[in-house]
Amino acid sequence: MLKLLLAATSLGVVADAGAAPPRPDVPGYALGQATLARAPYSMADLTALQKSMLFGADDVAALRQSKAILADQTEAILDVWYGFVASTPELVVFFGDTRSGQPDANYLGAVRKRFALWILDTADATYDQAWLDWQYEIGLRHNRLKKNKTDGAHGPAQVDFRYLPALTIPITTTLKPFLAKKGASVADVERMHAAWVKAVLMQAILWSHPYIKDGEF
Ligand code: HEM
Repeated sequence: MLKLLLAATSLGVVADAGAAPPRPDVPGYALGQATLARAPYSMADLTALQKSMLFGADDVAALRQSKAILADQTEAILDVWYGFVASTPELVVFFGDTRSGQPDANYLGAVRKRFALWILDTADATYDQAWLDWQYEIGLRHNRLKKNKTDGAHGPAQVDFRYLPALTIPITTTLKPFLAKKGASVADVERMHAAWVKAVLMQAILWSHPYIKDGEF
């Protein structure tokens, strides 16, 4: 444990100015847009969170490495993730139309386009203020404050909080075979997978802000 704590203290700020993110023409996609509200957590809060998760420069490098590997596999990955949600009644209900009680194909399809961009955004996240503001927005979109609004959907009012961090596990477990498909070494696949687990959990934590009582985040 002591070693872990010592290693943690040696991790510096993991922020990356990076290039301006692309702005694909996908309805509702808003990374980098000035219209987004400013996140209620700061860059210093992000740095502290990254330190607490042992998220460091090696993880950023592993995520970057994963981008080229995943770039032409996003549709296949989404088939697996959507397949998991579709076959899990406790989850698919959040994509349902409360009027018909059935899954809403238009809603699922609209979100899927942004989900594909999210995969590559996670691989080359800039960890700057624009990225932070987008995380806050995605959290709002899972919460009752903004769910359904982007796509004009008629789904349940919110994704219940407990499922947000939980989904880190199926998302990253099912991603691993895709990381291994392009000839990376076993060690590199392990590194990329570990970085993805941290990156997804980090986002689920940031997205949880609207669910938590004022002053308790
Ligand atoms: C680690 C956990 C999760 C990740 C990485 C994730 C990822 C995403 C992404 C990337 C979007 C699109 C955001 C946008 O661009 O608008 C989204 C939206 C959405 N997700 Fe999740 N999600 C997670 C947990 C969940 C869970 C557990 C559910 C329950 C089924 C869920 C249901 C939804 C719904 C319904 C939307 C659309 C929200 C809206 O109305 O705008 N998500 N999610």
